Amino acid sequence: MISGTTISGGADAADEAAQRLRLGQVVAVPTETVYGLAADATNANAVASIFAIKGRPQNNPLITHVLSIGDARRLTGAWPESAEILAAAFWPGPLTMVLSSAGQVAAAVSAGLPTIGVRVPSHPMMRAILAKSELPLAAPSANQSGHVSPTTPRHVLADLNGCIDLIVDGGPCAIGIESTVAGFHGEQPVIFRPGIITAEDIDQALRRAGVNLSPTPIFVAAESNTLPSPGMLSRHYAPDRPTYLFLRSAMHQLVNLFTSTSRSERMGVISFGSLPDRLLNAEVITLPADLYHATGGLYSAMRQLDRPEISAIFIELPGGDQLSAAGIGADTEPKDHHITRLSGMARVLADRLSRAALPWPKVRP
Ligand code: TXA
Ligand code: MG
Repeated sequence: MISGTTISGGADAADEAAQRLRLGQVVAVPTETVYGLAADATNANAVASIFAIKGRPQNNPLITHVLSIGDARRLTGAWPESAEILAAAFWPGPLTMVLSSAGQVAAAVSAGLPTIGVRVPSHPMMRAILAKSELPLAAPSANQSGHVSPTTPRHVLADLNGCIDLIVDGGPCAIGIESTVAGFHGEQPVIFRPGIITAEDIDQALRRAGVNLSPTPIFVAAESNTLPSPGMLSRHYAPDRPTYLFLRSAMHQLVNLFTSTSRSERMGVISFGSLPDRLLNAEVITLPADLYHATGGLYSAMRQLDRPEISAIFIELPGGDQLSAAGIGADTEPKDHHITRLSGMARVLADRLSRAALPWPKVRP
């Protein structure tokens, strides 16, 4: 146990972070996606501390962050042409590529897999820390395992106070959801974890570079017995309060539910764009209807509503318009097969939210 966790920003904080990382310590750092819990990827003890602090299962590998494409290549074995194209198109930025490992990092980083997940982040503070430390940095999201990823230093503190010495303050994360994780079957990319770089973006970058492959598939865990990416556990990114998804087209059912609950009960609601009906007994957070702009506030909203006086959290499933166009919409509870019909950013957010959510409540008090 560490007596106090400090939040500090500026060049001094980057210097101190680099120094601590070189000593094998664990430091929370900002990235453009979410805050990371970083350590020297080549130091087995430092990497073991990350797993211990987060309570992370040993079979879930960590992403290694580096400064440049060249640094990433040194950590990997085979490097498909499509990986080169995607690196040129999206790095520095929110794309993690899973490639064969050259064995340069501690074995626990890859959690026993023959592969390594690498990413070149764009956040200037994270880049300063990478440059000053001259280390490849293993960094999962800086939350307790299974909890919602942190997008501000305060979120990190809420989860890890007393577990680490330093949280480097780089402001609120601009993107606010974790990077896209893509693996490769030969030249063909496969998305393991959707993110703001969508399957459509990847296809477009490959086409622009003159490479014609099948549309990039998004791996669906339920359709396979083996997980190519162990982080795709079905329940993840979850608030502590029971959390449910609803379709805007089933708004009247939500209104009924809320009017039937006792006045003392208070619910939390997150919607994308304002809702057509007023909800009694509810604290409503409205995120932008434009889903690219909604990502930045989503995890903050989930954390804000995750308080003891809120008895449950209801989150709108984005992409309701896509489902209505496909003739879906009468159900209150969005199902997995609804989510696989979505595309673009709606698919990305629905993927995250489905991991936070429970089946629709059958009986209410
Ligand atoms: O945006 C992000 O990716 C943030 C920031 C800090 O970079 N990091 C992050 O890390 O979200 P984490 O540990 O919460 O998620 C890493 C994901 C997990 O789903 C993990 O299973 C997958 O990446 N992953 C990492 N290495 C892998 C590998 N070798 N093979 C398959 N999946 C891998
Ligand atoms: Mg995480």
